[in-house]
Amino acid sequence: MEQRVLSRKDFLRTSAKLAVGLTAGIGAMTLFPKRAAGAPSTIPDLPWPYAELDVEEARRRGHQGFYDENRACSYGSFHTIITMLQEQVGEPYTLMPTAFLEWGRGGGWGWGTLCGALTGALTAMNICQPKSTASKLGDELVGWYTQTAFPTDISNQYAVEGRFADTTNREAQVQTVCGSPLCHISVDTWVAAANVGATSAERRERCGRLTGDVAAYAVKLMNDDRREVFAPLYAAPASVAYCMSCHGKDGLDDSLGKMECTQCHGDHTGRLTAKMPDSFAPTHQARGHYPIPFSPRTTIRFTIPSAAVVWLAVYDVHGQLVKNLVNLEHYAQGPHDVSWDGTDNRNHQVASGTYFYRLQAGSHTETQRLVIF
Ligand code: HEC
Ligand code: HEC
Repeated sequence: MEQRVLSRKDFLRTSAKLAVGLTAGIGAMTLFPKRAAGAPSTIPDLPWPYAELDVEEARRRGHQGFYDENRACSYGSFHTIITMLQEQVGEPYTLMPTAFLEWGRGGGWGWGTLCGALTGALTAMNICQPKSTASKLGDELVGWYTQTAFPTDISNQYAVEGRFADTTNREAQVQTVCGSPLCHISVDTWVAAANVGATSAERRERCGRLTGDVAAYAVKLMNDDRREVFAPLYAAPASVAYCMSCHGKDGLDDSLGKMECTQCHGDHTGRLTAKMPDSFAPTHQARGHYPIPFSPRTTIRFTIPSAAVVWLAVYDVHGQLVKNLVNLEHYAQGPHDVSWDGTDNRNHQVASGTYFYRLQAGSHTETQRLVIF
């Protein structure tokens, strides 16, 4: 008897769960388009088939997609490529929603990391191309992005001629190359050049045009590859090979990445550094032989032609950072003196000998030798 009561309770509990599950199942099913008769009941493995798409159509739709329900860049480029494939290929693309790529906006919900237009296009590529092709074309797309002036001439021209679906802004916009795939650098560089707000309608329009440009270029790369005429054009900046010759896997093996190193780091070896204009060249006066031998003091004097963010640090002969003297501080135009008391970052007195200091002011950099007696 006891046994039977329990079973009945169990049965009730189980059937209640089943009922809930069934309702949820029906609800979820209606989110997907109706499946054509004879269509596969499971989602096929990747890659899905690619069909050649219209590059200029992708540009216009990318711009439009950016404004779709305010879903922005990442969704814009992804949605463009996937919906064009839905039209050209049909299933399985028609089984796929596109709104889930919205997270990439603003470099990941506004974090300013990878440009969302790239996130969307790279994801679409990774769906319709085998891995080797997706990585080859993706590498080219990201590299191209870092060296392209956005919005492109074509996008600006479409806007001026009113050929985008949204014709609110019909001005040719300022164009900037930012040297980086990071949303933060891309947006902020443009905002500075255009002298508008980072949250302004102009900035959004710029990113809308850029979204179209990225979707279009991704499509062009995939078309070229399909026609077997793809040839990489991107040449990495000298710093990547040079810095990685020591920091890469055959050297110190302490760094990973393909971004332009000197955009964020100084060149502590001084060899990549372009010669600075004379008015900018720093001079330093070693004032060694101090009465107290344990507190050597050296003054580094430099002149900057215009106000800039300055970074100044001392290294030893092995390239090891010894002391940060100026950590990204704003300096006015004109001559400046910064003194170094011969201590390292832990305030220990360094040994006498040769050191280097590296000065970076805005985009100018210089490395100089320095002797501590
Ligand atoms: C000739 C070899 C060599 C080259 C070329 C080189 N480095 Fe280094 N780098 C070193 C060595 C050695 C260190 C010290 C490593 C350590 O402390 O473990 C170092 C340290 C660094 C550090 C850490 C500094 C610190 O805070 O201690 C950074 C960042 C760095 N390098 C970036 C670069 C960049 C960027 C380039 C290219 C412009 C570059 N390096 C080129 C050898 C090199
Ligand atoms: C977008 C900015 C950025 C770029 C581009 C970049 N780095 Fe860095 N890197 C950083 C930051 C931030 C750190 C951590 C803080 C630090 O130590 O400087 C770091 C750390 C490092 C370190 C470890 C430093 C240490 O403290 O020992 C090395 C080595 C390094 N980077 C090398 C490179 C090389 C080589 C490249 C080019 C291939 C590169 N970085 C490109 C921002 C960048």
